[in-house]
Amino acid sequence: MSENINTEKKQFELTGKFSGFLSLEGYELKYLQLNSTEGEYVIKIPKELRLPLYKTLRPGDLITCQGESKHNQLNGQSKWKAYSIDKITEKNHKQSPKIVICQGSACLKRGSQRLSEVLQAQLEQENLDQQVEITTTGCLKNCKQGVNLIVMPEKAKYCQVQTQQLATIISRLTVANVTK
Ligand code: FES
Repeated sequence: MSENINTEKKQFELTGKFSGFLSLEGYELKYLQLNSTEGEYVIKIPKELRLPLYKTLRPGDLITCQGESKHNQLNGQSKWKAYSIDKITEKNHKQSPKIVICQGSACLKRGSQRLSEVLQAQLEQENLDQQVEITTTGCLKNCKQGVNLIVMPEKAKYCQVQTQQLATIISRLTVANVTK
């Protein structure tokens, strides 16, 4: 049965209290539980964020997660997978812009590492590197359209990104939510 026909995908952004790490299969703590005013969510953590989060998150911390949910219309179950997970502190309460670049194997083959380096250089050139964070994520399940990146907090998705487009992406970002 095709996942595409019966699965509804949506972007999500959830803020709430972190209550612990979970391993639903095997031993690795791949999930976290977030309690928000809308309910309890079990959210998959991207591989590269697991270690830093194990070290820094404590039960009761306020966090914000952004990612993609998949709702299976046949069995009514939803799965939540984060692109980014941030601890909310006084300092970052006002969400700062972030560019999330896919570093899954297909996007890496299409040059996402180089794209990330060029992006960093361009942000430095524009004096925006202190305001705009670059982070990476695992496969965003859009491999044929790689390189994929997402601009937060707007959740603007860009696909087939090449270095020539970075100036445009940065200029939109500048207008939207950063000050030079
Ligand atoms: S590797 Fe980037 S979308 Fe799959």
